[in-house]
Amino acid sequence: MTAAEAVVEEIANNALTATDETVLAVAVVVVVETVLVVAVVVVVETVLVVAVEVVETASEAAAVAVEAAVKEDPNAKETKTAVTAVMAVVVSFVKVAVVVVVVSFVKVAVVVVVVSFVKVAAVAVAVAVVVVVVSFVKVAVVVVVVSFVMAAAVAVVVSFVKVAVIATVTLVVDGGETSKVHIKIRPHPQFKEIYQAMLEGGVQRLATRNLTPGLTVYGERLIHVKNVEYRIWDAFRSKLAGGIIKGIQNVPIEAGSQILYLGAASGTTPSHISDIIGENGHAYCVEFASRSLRDLVNNVAAHRPNISPFLEDARKPEKYAIFIPRKIDTIYCDVAQPEQAKLLADNADALLKPNGWVMLACKSQSIDVTMTPEKVYKQEASILRNRGFNVKEIVDLEPYDKAHAMIIAQRPSST
Ligand SMILES: C[S@@+](CC[C@H](N)C(=O)[O-])C[C@H]1O[C@@H](n2cnc3c(N)ncnc32)[C@H](O)[C@@H]1O
Repeated sequence: MTAAEAVVEEIANNALTATDETVLAVAVVVVVETVLVVAVVVVVETVLVVAVEVVETASEAAAVAVEAAVKEDPNAKETKTAVTAVMAVVVSFVKVAVVVVVVSFVKVAVVVVVVSFVKVAAVAVAVAVVVVVVSFVKVAVVVVVVSFVMAAAVAVVVSFVKVAVIATVTLVVDGGETSKVHIKIRPHPQFKEIYQAMLEGGVQRLATRNLTPGLTVYGERLIHVKNVEYRIWDAFRSKLAGGIIKGIQNVPIEAGSQILYLGAASGTTPSHISDIIGENGHAYCVEFASRSLRDLVNNVAAHRPNISPFLEDARKPEKYAIFIPRKIDTIYCDVAQPEQAKLLADNADALLKPNGWVMLACKSQSIDVTMTPEKVYKQEASILRNRGFNVKEIVDLEPYDKAHAMIIAQRPSST
């Protein structure tokens, strides 16, 4: 086995650990081996050529000597011919032998060089492939590991930020006074005990101070600012909130007010009125649907001493008027019935104090589906006027309630 073959075999055996240096070593050995073979060929060829020259020179010298001998001895002519013939044969033989040896030698040398070159080339390609594959695998592993680590790091950071944000929001919602999330609360510029809340992202909502901290009525959000709990007031669930946002100018409901609420349902709006009027006020809530009244009692009135529920028909105020110990400041009517203005006026006759107010949540489609909502609102307003009210304003409640308006009126003391 030649040195090159030995190296080739070693590379083949250790292909996975082959390096650029190994390939370089193989290349050097092949070059050296090739140079040596060529050198040997040149030397041998030269020696043989020199030998031929020597033989030819000797042959010529022998010929000269024979010529001289013949001159001195004419009888040597035959000897001369024989020697010349022998010398010619020897020279020809040597020349042919040299040619045969040189050609064979060169053939062997070429074969050795080509075979070595092919072997080394094959190994080099194999090593290169292995190196590329190993490098690719290494890079792939590194990419996967780095990606995984980065993804994990990002996930950790995102989770951390989320937790921090949630903790900050919770801090505010659950009683924190300072926060990076700017939840602010300020009194409504016109109406006492009604608040404007600025939530995350600048979202604005109405709110009332919760008379029963920790309790909600209809899933509304609770917020805490400076140790006070407020209930967000959903304008899509309460026509009174919708009317305030739409800009009504009169909200005759304030701390200490006595309110008669007709059509209380399960207590969504009554609960906010309860917050506004506080412990010194009172809301008498009439509802004739027993299921709604049951929720009103269990979820609202049971926790709020300023609410008295009545399972009664609002068209018959005489049924509950005797249980209401004082005159009412404001009647809020939201019964969604055809004769709601008349019904409201009848209750006012029975229970409203002089200069008292009424608020009528008017659903036009409950009154006349053939008329435009505006005509229905005017018609209801004129009914109130005919019953001695000064109609102060009619405010459309869209988009919070479609085809609804809030009619606000006051009955003067002279009536
Ligand atoms: C639109 S809902 C009231 C919603 C409630 N005002 C609020 O904002 O949470 C109308 C309610 O009036 C009640 N109602 C209708 N006619 C009534 C009547 N004649 N007497 C008492 N309740 C009545 C219905 O049962 C219904 O619960």
